[in-house]
This record gives sequence, C-alpha cells and structure tokens, in this order.
Amino acid sequence: MGIFHPRNHRAIRTREDFAKLPRHVAIIMDGNGRWAKKHKLNVAMGHRQGVETLREIIRHTDDLRIEALTIYAFSTENWNRSREEVAALMQLILDFFRSEIDELDEKNVRILILGEKDVFPEKQRDVLIEAERRTGKNTGLTLNICLNYGGRAELVRAAKSIAQDVKDGALALADVTEQTLSDRLYTANQPDVDLMIRTSGEMRLSNFLLYQCAYAEFLFPKVLWPDFTVQDYDEALLAYGGRERRFGKRL
Ligand code: IPE
Ligand code: IPE
Ligand code: MG
Repeated sequence: MGIFHPRNHRAIRTREDFAKLPRHVAIIMDGNGRWAKKHKLNVAMGHRQGVETLREIIRHTDDLRIEALTIYAFSTENWNRSREEVAALMQLILDFFRSEIDELDEKNVRILILGEKDVFPEKQRDVLIEAERRTGKNTGLTLNICLNYGGRAELVRAAKSIAQDVKDGALALADVTEQTLSDRLYTANQPDVDLMIRTSGEMRLSNFLLYQCAYAEFLFPKVLWPDFTVQDYDEALLAYGGRERRFGKRL
C-alpha cells in the first residue's frame, strides 16, 4: 500500500486504498498562531509553516484525483488582525503563487480565487488574476483559494446578481431556484462540499462556504495546521469513507 513517507515513516495512501473518496474537500487551515506560540516564534513563522503543510496537502489531493479542493486562506474578518500580521500574510500570498504556479499549472490544476480581489494591494491582485488566467483552461484538480472570502458576502453577491436580472427582465421570479443561486456562487458548476475539515480543534464554520456545506460531513482534527500531515489527511479521508450519508432519507 502506498509510498513510503520519509517525514514520519508512515505510508501515504493512493486512490486505490479508498473505497469512497469525496469529490470536493474543503479545509479551514486553523492553528498557525497557536503553533507559532507553542514554538516561541513570531506568528508570521506559523503562517509560513502552514504554507508548507498546504503544499503537501494540495499535492496529495491532486495525486488522489479528487475533483475539487477549497482552502480558507484569508477571511473578510482577518483584515481585523494587526497590521504586521496582515502584511506577513500578504507577503505569503505573493510567495506562494510565485513559487507554486509553475508546478500547479504543469499538473493541470485550475486555480480559482474565491472572494473579492479588488481590495488587495496591486501586486497581490495581479498575481491572483494571472494565476486564474494562466490555469483557467486546465482540466485537473480545481483548487479554490478563499482570499478575502466570506460566506455571507458571497450570498449577498449572488442575491444581487439575481435581483439585477429579475429587474432587467432577463430572469422571471418564478424561475429562481436553488440552482439559480448556486450558479451565481464563486463555486458555480462545482459539486457541493462533501467533506469539511477544520484543524486545531475549533468547531465552527467562521463564515466559510455557508451554502456549499449544506450536506457536508464535518471533521475537526485537534492537530494544528502546521503539524497536519498527509497521513492525518488520509485518516480524515478514511473517516469520511466510513460516514453514512443519508441526505434526509431513511436508508
Ligand atoms: C489560521 O491560523 C490562518 C489564518 C487565519 C490566516 P490562525 O492564525 O487563525 O491560528 P490560531 O487560530 O491563532 O491558532
Ligand atoms: C478562519 O479562521 C479563517 C481562516 C482559516 C483563513 P479564524 O482563526 O480566522 O477564525 P475564528 O476567528 O477563530 O473564528
Ligand atoms: Mg484561528
């Protein structure tokens, strides 16, 4: 089974090891601050270490041929952190895209940014727009990166777009369905979230994918994000496989 993993001498699983895999995984990468504190490091180092985890998790998601991965990288509420921390995160955004874009594009990964890009400084905005443009026609893993993302803001945006079309006569009120709404979310045409993972033991959604998680299975591993390994991820995926999804029916 799997490939030998040098970091902790445990095997990494391959697609064949799973009876059932989610089509869409969403992750709230939480615990960078606590990890930094635990190691008596600056919070920026926690975020930096978190990016290392992210690289491995993206790679493994792609190896497993999962269709979509959505990661919560920066919420609309995260602007309320200190100026230094926000600046460190802005720098990490640049570093991440500059160092990863070639490999992701080569792997046929399609990058989408979920969230309003206009508020970002110009350099960041340019890098985000370019990543989306460059990978836009790729047909492999869809990698949704939530930046300046808020689930409520996303729903307001969708509601406004529907209201505008109704007002313009392009859409009849009677034709507004759940599909109409989901078509206007950032995740249009993607499957709903099957599995939502939040690390660090916190058990809340923090304004993440409010609509798309309607029937998601939730897992809350206690491990802090920088310590989250590919093996922890495999365990989460296996746990997902053991869940009975009823969607309201009696099985
Ligand atoms: C999550 O880690 C990363 C971002 C919000 C960008 P935190 O920074 O929230 O880590 P904790 O919750 O303080 O440990
Ligand atoms: C959610 O984590 C946002 C990201 C992981 C980017 P937070 O750490 O910001 O959420 P709260 O404040 O603990 O709910
Ligand atoms: Mg947190």
